[in-house]
Amino acid sequence: MNVSVDGEPMTAAPGQTVAGLLLAAGRSSWRSTRGGGRPRGVFCGIGVCFDCLVVVNGVPDVRACQRTLADGDRISTQHGAELPS
Ligand code: FES
Repeated sequence: MNVSVDGEPMTAAPGQTVAGLLLAAGRSSWRSTRGGGRPRGVFCGIGVCFDCLVVVNGVPDVRACQRTLADGDRISTQHGAELPS
């Protein structure tokens, strides 16, 4: 499957999550915190902590560890979170 991450074309395997793709590409963080801009990526890996938020096809606050990629997905890094703190 063909996807993009911050505009860079990448190839994903069927069933691969967004976090799996990013980790396999050598990225350990893809979001920065609202207060302080600290880097975040996978922490729990099971959908509980919301540290791994990413923008998928223009929709913010998608948990990268839970979202399975689809052909044509456009992934973007995210600053902070749209969710209330
Ligand atoms: S890593 Fe905790 S919700 Fe994704």
